[in-house]
Amino acid sequence: MAPKIFATGASGYIGGAALDAIINAHPDYDITALVRSPQKAAALVAKYPNLKTVNGDLDSGSVIESETEKADIILHFADCDHVPAAKSISAGLKKKTTPAFIIHTSGSAILPDITKGEFGQQADEKIYDDIESVKEITSFPIDGHLHRDVDTIILEANSDNVRTAIVCPPTIYGVGAGTAGNTRSAQVPGLTKGTLKRGEAFQVTAGKSIWNNVHIDDLSQLYLLLTEDAAAGGKKATWGTEGYYFAENGEHVWGELAKKIAEKAKVKGYLKTNDVASLSVDDIKEIHPFGAVLWGTNSRGKASRARKVLGWAPKGAPLEETLDALIDSEAKLLGLEPSGQTVV
Ligand SMILES: NC(=O)c1ccc[n+]([C@@H]2O[C@H](COP(=O)([O-])OP(=O)(O)OC[C@H]3O[C@@H](n4cnc5c(N)ncnc54)[C@H](OP(=O)(O)O)[C@@H]3O)[C@@H](O)[C@H]2O)c1
Repeated sequence: MAPKIFATGASGYIGGAALDAIINAHPDYDITALVRSPQKAAALVAKYPNLKTVNGDLDSGSVIESETEKADIILHFADCDHVPAAKSISAGLKKKTTPAFIIHTSGSAILPDITKGEFGQQADEKIYDDIESVKEITSFPIDGHLHRDVDTIILEANSDNVRTAIVCPPTIYGVGAGTAGNTRSAQVPGLTKGTLKRGEAFQVTAGKSIWNNVHIDDLSQLYLLLTEDAAAGGKKATWGTEGYYFAENGEHVWGELAKKIAEKAKVKGYLKTNDVASLSVDDIKEIHPFGAVLWGTNSRGKASRARKVLGWAPKGAPLEETLDALIDSEAKLLGLEPSGQTVV
């Protein structure tokens, strides 16, 4: 029988793309999505006629709890920092009398200890492997490690009936397939937008920090593989407290990426210089309140688990190959023409 799925974040970048992959592969899956906007619910149903929607937001505790209780698989894409939503899911899972799987989306900003105050000054040599380092990753202190508070709630939901998988994406790039909502990622589009707006590329202090990256289509395939495994009873994948999945397929140095954006944007006529300014953490805050974390921390991991247990084989275009299209689309959003002039 087709599994009953409850999803959050269906109109988002990650959730939209992942659900698109899942629905295309399995149009028979019985999916209900939590959606807070009637317009977005209508757009989703227009695109996926078999999709059901339930009205509510992440603070709609009773809705989330009862939809979770009814589902065999919960796909929580919406917000890896929203504690009340995680608690509502956990409360629903506690009421389960039949087996259930939850696939939760965290984020690799969990890796750096942001209380150290190191932003951009150096590349961190430490690379976390999601098999070898799983105990370390799942026991970081909450203080200093973003997303750990919600990860903890999810991990504690494991029980006789409930098994969890946490997908921890790094920098995601590429245009999302979920055309019924947001299709744009955050970090590289934000860096590109900030560059075009100020007329010069920038890096956080020395620009030396490193993150992993993954193409949105490859990430969606990982969600598909995990969902299929859950639908088949969870036999292949790792589920439970060790079910932690990085999703990388390469890495970038933020300062080098800023330089590539600068060079390409200059060739296109959006910038007069391909210099990269080294900005202080305070200056970065003017561009984006969390810019120092987004573009100035180190987050290096190895996605061994998905490759090993699920045969995940990412094949999306590398990040650098997506920069031309990204620069053009960010310029368009800003109303910029190649001369650097704003279209009025
Ligand atoms: N993008 C990345 O590179 C990346 C990497 C790792 C982790 N993450 C994390 O993954 C999560 C999702 O990221 P994303 O890029 O997919 O974000 P997004 O495009 O902004 O999508 C968020 C989705 O969740 C829904 N949502 C958010 N807050 C909600 C609320 N209070 N009530 C109901 N629905 C709500 C949004 O609904 P609306 O359409 O109504 O706004 C949307 O469907 C975030 O926590 C993000 O930090 C992102």
